[in-house]
Amino acid sequence: MEIDQNFPDESNDLSSFQKEKWLANQYLYKINGFWLLDYFVPGISRTIKHFRPLPSDVILASFPKTGTTWLKSLLFAIVNRGSLELLARNHPHELVPILEAQVYGSADIESCYNTTDSPGSRRIFSTHMAHQLLVRNLNSSECRVVYVTRNPKDTLVSMFHFVNKWKIAEKEALQIEDAVDKFCRGVFPCGPYYDHVLGYRQESLNNPKKNLFTTYEDLKADPTTQVKKMAEFLGCPFGGKDGDKEVEEVIKSCSFEILRNYEVNKSENSPTWFEVPYNSFFRKGEVGDHMNFLDDEKIALIDEITRIKFHGSGFNY
Ligand code: A3P
Repeated sequence: MEIDQNFPDESNDLSSFQKEKWLANQYLYKINGFWLLDYFVPGISRTIKHFRPLPSDVILASFPKTGTTWLKSLLFAIVNRGSLELLARNHPHELVPILEAQVYGSADIESCYNTTDSPGSRRIFSTHMAHQLLVRNLNSSECRVVYVTRNPKDTLVSMFHFVNKWKIAEKEALQIEDAVDKFCRGVFPCGPYYDHVLGYRQESLNNPKKNLFTTYEDLKADPTTQVKKMAEFLGCPFGGKDGDKEVEEVIKSCSFEILRNYEVNKSENSPTWFEVPYNSFFRKGEVGDHMNFLDDEKIALIDEITRIKFHGSGFNY
């Protein structure tokens, strides 16, 4: 799955790359097979160039809107189960920083995030970068990679709502027809969704000790089993007489209902690295919400693309 790492440098000269309008004056550029928001390209470039994971690092990888915020809180809670109260005071995105935005987002890397100064005992980072872009970094150490994915129709609908909370959407809102068209053509932030999923899916089959592939729907259906599995995968299983109680505490502390009601998560303020309110990461938190926004024709179209793209992968939606 590795592709040519001919990634533009930090100077951000994207003039030679294919581009397509995303929203208002914001563009997506197709670089090494993936559509990236110009704003994040320098940070992605620096991540590829500088990020050397420690063997103890945990990397949460995801396509946007597939459950990143939930997994951030769960992974943080699993690894730091004695410090669950930190979830009440810190937005999950501040507990688990995004490599290409918070860690390497600034040219002055040192000022951006001190990579030795993690809020927990073990470093946990997240990324929306495709495996195909990050493969050399991830394979340079024994770090653990957890990938979460989600039904493509719910992912698309979640993104549709999220984007319309961006400052830029005040000038021009994203229409659902346009969102569907772009998603189906792969012209979506970090898209194509299918290539993103299949990159990490393949890696989890090739090297299951290092890569765990999970889904939003499995977590919703049976959080206990999934949380135990993640903890075992990370080498910190829940054991002893209080093991089951601890698992339930972790799940409860990271539940949508609990997290969304903390002041930090209800805040209209934006993080320093992106102009979107903190509260926009918590919307509905349900499986199947696409049915309220996509008509039968759109659903059939996406289902057909999904069937073709995932055919032969052993994975489907
Ligand atoms: P909806 O827009 O469908 O509600 P990401 O974190 O990758 O940006 O994904 C955001 C989606 O995850 C949103 O989905 C959001 O509501 C949902 N979400 C956030 N926190 C959650 C939690 N603790 N449990 C379940 N879903 C959560």
